[in-house]
Amino acid sequence: MRTQVAIVGAGPAGLLLGALLHQAGIDAVIIEQRSAEYVLGRIRAGVLEQTTVALLEQAGVAERLRREGLPHDGTELAFDGQLHRIDFFGLTGRRVTVYGQTEVTQDLMQARAAAGLTTVYEAENVSVHGFDGAAPHVRYHQAGRDLELACDFIAGCDGYHGVSRASVPACAIAIFEKVYPFGWLGILADVPPVRHELVYANHERGFALCSQRSRTRSRYYLQTSLTDKVENWSDAAFWDELRLRLPAEVAQQVTTGASIEKSIAPLRSFVAEPMRFGTLFLAGDAAHIVPPTGAKGLNLAASDVGYLSQGLIEHYRDKSPAGIDAYSQRCLARIWKAERFSWWFTSLMHKFPETGAFGQKMQHAELEYLVGSKAASTALAENYVGLPIR
Ligand code: APR
Ligand code: PHB
Repeated sequence: MRTQVAIVGAGPAGLLLGALLHQAGIDAVIIEQRSAEYVLGRIRAGVLEQTTVALLEQAGVAERLRREGLPHDGTELAFDGQLHRIDFFGLTGRRVTVYGQTEVTQDLMQARAAAGLTTVYEAENVSVHGFDGAAPHVRYHQAGRDLELACDFIAGCDGYHGVSRASVPACAIAIFEKVYPFGWLGILADVPPVRHELVYANHERGFALCSQRSRTRSRYYLQTSLTDKVENWSDAAFWDELRLRLPAEVAQQVTTGASIEKSIAPLRSFVAEPMRFGTLFLAGDAAHIVPPTGAKGLNLAASDVGYLSQGLIEHYRDKSPAGIDAYSQRCLARIWKAERFSWWFTSLMHKFPETGAFGQKMQHAELEYLVGSKAASTALAENYVGLPIR
């Protein structure tokens, strides 16, 4: 089999890249190691920046998003038993859209199937080759056969644990990483969200987040220790702890119900530089991870593939290497700013036992400054709604 762009991984990065290339008449095949059902079963964040929505529009997959996505003009911060609203729209003229990553993935999968484009699911032993020379290709095993996909370019959209980044010689890649000393316990439940907007709570027992997927489906998170286990948390224990960490007026309003998903995720900041190696491009979680505070993961994956599709379009249409040559540097300029924001917001909102009473006082002073200063609120708002794509 031969294609112009071989995409490894059918998460949001790979699927969106495939859709953007298809709109531009560029041929791509996606090779994914899991089944479509498995990919759709993963629960991830669901806050889209306007630039992400614009890319989904450009890819022709925004119809349901326009109908079902919930526009949010702000968010609420909770500390000291009080709520403080940050007015994104008033401060920046921009808003975010709440629409689950599962829905984004489903829309992209459906559009791909409807257009008759090839996605190989359940490919085993996927490997990438020849990206430093003239004959890049992807090999994989399926239904007892060894197969090969020849291509002009390989897009490594295979997530943090993928094969693409791991195939680059260690001496050619620099890794920057920070692991946080806690995780997030999340539950999904078919109950109406407690507030119209998201609530990020700093509490002495630890961080809590009230998020949502729709007017009838909520997503809540609690900071937990890294050694904690999902089995230790009954639904009742989760709701009790959540209410303890929220201001009383919010806690009283929480509608509880049976969880439909419950999981613990560690928090990490991670960047690999550069993001291009010959004809291999890394995009999305394959190149970088942010802690979920601020919901930048999916948005960064989208802006990466926005830049990559632009570069590939310039290559095929204009015979110009400018876009693909600038890819890594353009992406990284935006990624590091989102890394900084996610790290800062994580540091502000969580309990860090090792920083002691002084650390808590600093957090408190910063939270008060943040909600009392238009300049500081604007800095939060403009990062949350998303920095511009240049
Ligand atoms: N071969 C083929 N596919 C692979 C391989 C491999 N060796 N390794 C991983 N994959 C697949 C995974 O099964 C997954 O479906 O690559 C896909 C990567 O998807 P994500 O992990 O979702 O990463 P990405 O598309 O970059 O999305 C980034 O979505 O996953 C969230 O937190 C993430 O919000 C962020 C955004
Ligand atoms: C989510 O809805 O899962 C979510 C929302 C905002 C975040 C993180 C996660 O900052």
